Amino acid sequence: MRFQLSSLLAGLLASVVSAQEDPVQTGPFNLHIKGKEGSSIDGYAGSCHAGAAIEGLCYNAGPLPTGNSFEYYFNASSYTVVDDVPVGKLIWKLPYNGGEATVDQSLALQFTVNSNVAAAMFGIGSYSSDIGFDKDSKFFSWAYLDDSTFEAGKAPFPSGNGTAYYQWYVISFCLVGD
Ligand SMILES: *[C@@H]1O[C@H](CO)[C@@H](O)[C@H](O)[C@H]1NC(C)=O
Ligand SMILES: *[C@@H]1O[C@H](CO)[C@@H](O)[C@H](O)[C@H]1NC(C)=O
Repeated sequence: MRFQLSSLLAGLLASVVSAQEDPVQTGPFNLHIKGKEGSSIDGYAGSCHAGAAIEGLCYNAGPLPTGNSFEYYFNASSYTVVDDVPVGKLIWKLPYNGGEATVDQSLALQFTVNSNVAAAMFGIGSYSSDIGFDKDSKFFSWAYLDDSTFEAGKAPFPSGNGTAYYQWYVISFCLVGD
């Protein structure tokens, strides 16, 4: 009996792992950044060096520049859907070996305890935040719980559906040093 149970577990694990190994990757595509009405913001996202194998998502005003820095991919999750679209990873392919090879970096929203904004950064490994593109191709992040709705003394109860969030900001900054 013990043998049967462990082979059943191994079978389940194997199918979960193989489902995760083959996400559908779409791309390349570009990320057009357009401000709200009346804003002069109109340009494209490009990956910019921020540290060892870490890239920022930088705003480049004007027409689409050419090159790998402006090309992104999306790995859809096979199981999480928000507003009827699959969420997944935003990928940038970091070139190495003089551009002969690339490695996938995925976007993560990096939060700090003393700020209400998160920096969108690309890194390697388990570093990632699920994001999505809605039916109008608009980029969103999402969460299951909204802590502004919590009531004291009541356990929060997730609806089971994620909520999409679209509050993106372009912040000018300058990295000094390396
Ligand atoms: C994205 O999906 C492709 C195709 O299934 C896979 O080869 C690649 O490793 C995935 N990348 C990440 C960062 O999950
Ligand atoms: C969750 O989303 C599905 C599909 O959009 C919808 O049918 C369902 O009513 C939603 N459930 C809740 C609790 O909002």
